[in-house]
Amino acid sequence: VRVAILISGSGSNMVRLVESMTGEHPARPVLVLSNVPGAGGLDRARALGVPTAVVDHRAHPDRAAFEAALEEALAPARPDLICLAGFMRVLSADFVARRAGRILNIHPSLLPKFRGLDTHARALAAGETRHGCTVHEVTPALDDGPILGQAEVPVLPDDTPETLAARVLEAEHRLYPAVLRRVAEGDRTPLRLD
Ligand code: GRF
Repeated sequence: VRVAILISGSGSNMVRLVESMTGEHPARPVLVLSNVPGAGGLDRARALGVPTAVVDHRAHPDRAAFEAALEEALAPARPDLICLAGFMRVLSADFVARRAGRILNIHPSLLPKFRGLDTHARALAAGETRHGCTVHEVTPALDDGPILGQAEVPVLPDDTPETLAARVLEAEHRLYPAVLRRVAEGDRTPLRLD
């Protein structure tokens, strides 16, 4: 199974995904693509020996042009699955529909709670005692597709958005590789990690 990983920043989730695809694992990383030139994850991908590409969304007049460039950069890699990992662009319904069920995303909340941004501050403001992350299939609606896995973390009384984000990120690093392996093996039953 050929996996392309899309990033926008440090790529810590991408690193864990790439490091998990070894030995008898049915998937292999074929491309790491960033919409941000110079994203830290690009150097980390190169250090791991994974081909990289940059498609700068600011270099394109609109979403359609950006996504055409995205398709062009993805084509040679022939990905079977696309993993969004800290990818901060919303993909159009057309782009998603062309790859129905073959785009995964990790979101730092226990969906359907806290779709969108600033999830940790919002979870704290809501007085949540449990929080976490979700891997889901990408559909045209934001952060809304079928859930493939979730990992829960406790919210502690003295948590700040930063301390909570760090705890969730650690859970992401456990959840995403576990879900990718199951999906690559053809198993899409939701996984629950605590
Ligand atoms: C993190 O906030 C994570 O919760 C979300 O994307 C951001 C960056 O992740 N999934 P990464 O280090 O680039 O994987």
